[in-house]
Amino acid sequence: MSAIINRRDWLKTGSLAALALGFSSSSMGNEEGLLRNFGANLGLLNLGSNENPYGISPKAKEALLSILGESHRYQFNVPLLMNFEKEIGDYYKVGNKQVLATAGSGDALGKLARHFNKGALVTATPTFATLPNAAKKMGTKVIEVPLTADKKHDLPAMLQAIDSNTQTVYICNPANPSSTVLPTQQLKDFCKEASKKAVVIIDEAYIDFLDNPGQQSMIGLIDEHPNIVVVRTFSKIHAMAGLRIGFVVGHPSVTAAMREGIFVNSQMAISNPAMMAALASLKDEAHRENCKQKNAAARDYTIQSLKALNIEAVPSYTNFIFFPLGKYPGDFASDMLKKNAIVRSNIYPDGKWARVSIGTMDEMQQFMGLMKSAWKS
Ligand SMILES: Cc1ncc(COP(=O)(O)O)c(C=O)c1O
Repeated sequence: MSAIINRRDWLKTGSLAALALGFSSSSMGNEEGLLRNFGANLGLLNLGSNENPYGISPKAKEALLSILGESHRYQFNVPLLMNFEKEIGDYYKVGNKQVLATAGSGDALGKLARHFNKGALVTATPTFATLPNAAKKMGTKVIEVPLTADKKHDLPAMLQAIDSNTQTVYICNPANPSSTVLPTQQLKDFCKEASKKAVVIIDEAYIDFLDNPGQQSMIGLIDEHPNIVVVRTFSKIHAMAGLRIGFVVGHPSVTAAMREGIFVNSQMAISNPAMMAALASLKDEAHRENCKQKNAAARDYTIQSLKALNIEAVPSYTNFIFFPLGKYPGDFASDMLKKNAIVRSNIYPDGKWARVSIGTMDEMQQFMGLMKSAWKS
């Protein structure tokens, strides 16, 4: 119990005190401009970061322990890791030189923004903001195409927005924060068409929550379409957000050019334990399936319970739910934080919306308990 700080103690810490006093600083917003707070495991219900609450695969845990004794070694001296990118490539059935390992997919998105730093980027709004924000900082013009009324990417409008100045297009599928997925064939057709004029970057952070991730991924297009790039992470279904590992899959011409621009071997930014755990986790399909099923059950429960409060969430294909706040009078995320729960909320042109990550069933029951009182108050 002593390891868990009670709320009053926690309020005394500088960062939350600043928040409670209403100070705002850019470090408190995440890329989506939504409220971001500090630290899980502080007695808070942390449903703000789309983490996987079931933890890493037991096989990944074993792999982590097994590599600790090699911590003094650089990765190029650890035979098991020498072919890391090739092994990822083999798993996803892409060629030897098509994988660029990164320290999480956020790192991949930042590297892509730096590499493709000319002209304009066409993307959706709202979307996961790391790439658009990094692009803006690089001086790239960012064209934001609103999602459709059902919160999907508006592919025809995005195609129309591409012109001779467009260098890149970014699509997050499934989408964050809206939790929707695009029909596979429609997205493939879009990728083929758009990649005639620009580099199309597909962020598949949440793809493993879908029924057929292998078929629904755009990775299969890469061989024949050098202008299509896919970004993946081990932070979501693999539950390795703290280990920081992800990768880019692209045509060898793209990955080679990116490597040139990074100057040092980018894989060296990733720790040996992260790589070991990632390889082991890929082999544990049963753990992933288990996480997926538990996520789906807790998600269905939450969507149905929100419905009972007359809240119609967007149908979710991910480990989070996006729902309208209607005429909710205050700042929803701040109000929930006062009840010890971290969620996100934001004001968009069509009103106030909230995003809640799917925790365990028990956590979602706690969340619904808080929702019921928040909705009444
Ligand atoms: C769509 C999307 N892409 C990328 C990321 C970055 O994740 P990471 O850097 O942990 O791989 C996130 C994190 O929430 C995300 O939602």
